[in-house]
Amino acid sequence: MISINEEYASKFEEARKVIEKESFFRVFSHYDGDGVSSALIIAESLRRLHKGFHLSFLRSMELDAKKESGEHPIILSDLGTEVPSGIKPEAGVIILDHHMFSGADRQGVINLNPRRYGYDGTREACSSTVSFLLSLAIDPSNYDLFPAFIAGVIGDKQNIGGFSGINAKIVEDMKGRYQSTKDLNFFGKSISEGIYLSIEPYFDGLSGNLEGSRYFLQNLGIDPDSPVSSLRTDEKERIVDSLTIQLVRQNAAREGYETLVNDTFIFKDIGLSGNQASEYFDAAGRNGRMGLPTSWFMGYEDGKEEMEELYSTLRKEALEQIRKSYASRKEFDNFHLAYVENPNLAGVTASTMMLYLVSGRKPVIALYRNKGTKISGRGTRELLSKGLDLSKAIGEAAESVGGHGGGHNIAAGGEIPFDKEESFLRRLNEVLGDQIGNT
Ligand code: C5P
Ligand code: C5P
Repeated sequence: MISINEEYASKFEEARKVIEKESFFRVFSHYDGDGVSSALIIAESLRRLHKGFHLSFLRSMELDAKKESGEHPIILSDLGTEVPSGIKPEAGVIILDHHMFSGADRQGVINLNPRRYGYDGTREACSSTVSFLLSLAIDPSNYDLFPAFIAGVIGDKQNIGGFSGINAKIVEDMKGRYQSTKDLNFFGKSISEGIYLSIEPYFDGLSGNLEGSRYFLQNLGIDPDSPVSSLRTDEKERIVDSLTIQLVRQNAAREGYETLVNDTFIFKDIGLSGNQASEYFDAAGRNGRMGLPTSWFMGYEDGKEEMEELYSTLRKEALEQIRKSYASRKEFDNFHLAYVENPNLAGVTASTMMLYLVSGRKPVIALYRNKGTKISGRGTRELLSKGLDLSKAIGEAAESVGGHGGGHNIAAGGEIPFDKEESFLRRLNEVLGDQIGNT
């Protein structure tokens, strides 16, 4: 049994009863790694109960969700906790979310956001955590959805620095069935491909450079074509030592090192590691194939190969984007600015530059210009200790120009009207200056 406080446990019981009673559910989930994993968990749990459902993925609370009639109970996963006023909760709404929210819960809404019950939704539980707890409340034999829970936690980077809070309790509770080992965080057909495709960590000169990665391994006396799983312990140690030196040279942020060797789960029954599942699910979501992980898990056998292909294509595009964005970055007093050509790569570009390329003294803001401008910002734990709160900074600066934004102190985003970029950046620079004091 995973111990959570009584009040929280009773809410899961309430949700379980609604699910048991009703026969059809309208499910909406977010399109990112956590959203896709959370959706898989909830959809498979409903399928096992022979319940009908209609699952859709959204980038945010869009019109589709707001138009729902309320004829069937609605499940909202990873889409925020405030239920838009357009949604009629007549038949009930279950919220599987972990974002910050304010205000009381509306009538007819079962809010399972861990923040409501005293848990930290940034480090200790994400939407996949909440979905997994619900699936276990429905039926303890749903424990085999654990790989999707792990994929979601990794997708939201809640594993960085080790699992904590509810996530750690689940990992501890499941350790009889699923064990992790400390291992290299690379996957691919060979170790050289693993390093070449690595973004976390990102190795300047090796990531995105297959020849460079092969040469690096040859210099260590290691066969570049060797599969990661066949490497001897002494070979792994040599790789870790050299790559650590490489990260020191790059002046990587402290948490940037934590992903070189981490708790690795190998899920033999699905033929994927936890990190791999997380990357595959995230790539499927970001390529508009959000339902693919769920259909694969439910038996669509070609799904794995398709996800692998999507991952590899998206990864190469991301590596190219990071290289370009870094080369053309601009520096403000209180942040680095980068532009991206694909809105799906804004977060990963900002994050990689932050942890591995800009020496960590100020946050990174990535912008995607279209009809409006999309913003993604990333910081480090050290910057948080200096007072950084990107959610507040981006929110305040975006609102000052008629946009909006929010998220977490360490990772936040927003949108502003296209022609307001300059005033937004000016205001953001001021707010960040007040927070981290570089002004
Ligand atoms: O929408 P949501 O809150 O789930 O998204 C959180 C985002 O923040 C994810 O893209 C996750 O990878 C990112 N993140 C990050 N660094 C952290 C924590 C989260 O880049 N330390
Ligand atoms: O899009 P990105 O991955 O950069 O989002 C980082 C965090 O900011 C996520 O938690 C996301 O939900 C949040 N966000 C937000 N409002 C926006 C855009 C992003 O709260 N307009």
